[in-house]
Amino acid sequence: MRSELLNAITAVNDSAALEAIRVRALGKSGTITALLKTLGGMSPEERQVKGPEIQELRLAVADAIAARKMALDRAALDARLQSETLDMTLPVGAAATGSVHPVSQVMDELAEIFADLGFAVATGPEIEDDWHNFTALNIPETHPARAMHDTFYFPDAEGREAKMLLRTHTSPVQVRTMLTQKPPIRIIAPGRVYRADSDATHTPMFHQIEGLVIDKGIPLGHLRWTLETFLKAFFERDDIVLRLRPSFFPFTEPSVEVDVGYSIEKGRRVIGGAEGWMEVLGSGMVHPKVIAACGLDPEEYQGFAFGTGVDRLAMLKYGMDDLRAFFDGDLRWLKHYGFRALDVPTLSGGVGA
Ligand code: DAH
Repeated sequence: MRSELLNAITAVNDSAALEAIRVRALGKSGTITALLKTLGGMSPEERQVKGPEIQELRLAVADAIAARKMALDRAALDARLQSETLDMTLPVGAAATGSVHPVSQVMDELAEIFADLGFAVATGPEIEDDWHNFTALNIPETHPARAMHDTFYFPDAEGREAKMLLRTHTSPVQVRTMLTQKPPIRIIAPGRVYRADSDATHTPMFHQIEGLVIDKGIPLGHLRWTLETFLKAFFERDDIVLRLRPSFFPFTEPSVEVDVGYSIEKGRRVIGGAEGWMEVLGSGMVHPKVIAACGLDPEEYQGFAFGTGVDRLAMLKYGMDDLRAFFDGDLRWLKHYGFRALDVPTLSGGVGA
């Protein structure tokens, strides 16, 4: 019995068959179990001889099964590792041929900078209705700003009341946020916007980022501080000088256009200093009519908003001068201006690092 069992155990090649042998020998009605049961009917003298023999047989078979099981398991694991090889030493940098587009990079940088100031990222649809894009933002039907936006409208569809359009700015996300969130609100909203306009400095699709703060007791000074802090972090310079000029936007009162000072270094304009001024942002205190249109009481809540072009920020920071190249998909341009996918912008590492 011993040699028959040990031979069978060595010959077996899968764990199910091995388990069957175990049950046949050591299971409840196994052959060795049956032998053990015979001990009870033996005389003490006989038992003294047979007992150790049977126990030794049981242990030898159990050990052989355990050893065979370990060998089979290891073989199975080896086979699996062989078939699922993955070369962990292959450098990702060499394999990663793609790059992060400067627009995505700048949006990531902005999200990082504003997250540090307690702003969440909000999004809204690119296909909007004219209430969110215009009316709620205090741009009524007859307002000349509607014409100024060169809007792409969708053809009127039967049964649809609202006029649908491609959003012309990210400002409707202000409206959507105020309608769905309770103050205090602190959001930025980056995204694509569309206008029927195309020349060296305009593309029909471009990117904006919107900022909105709504709370109690928010004065214009908070706007100035926030923008200054953001621009210093973004351009990674401390000598950022802002100039606020009175302006007009239907959705803000008062409205301010924000210029940032530049200086000339090696014949090039760089942000910082105050040798000249460049317009970078539209902003202002959110108009009470907008706050009311979003269902909040303007006597109780106020705040500020700002909006700017992400593509332009990218051009200013990283020194590209043709906007159209952004959307040509030219691999040489992408290789040159793109960012390594593994370099995630962080404030501690320098957002543009
Ligand atoms: N929506 C404006 C545009 O597309 C930009 C803007 C100006 C946004 C002032 C604002 C703001 O939030 O306060 O030209």
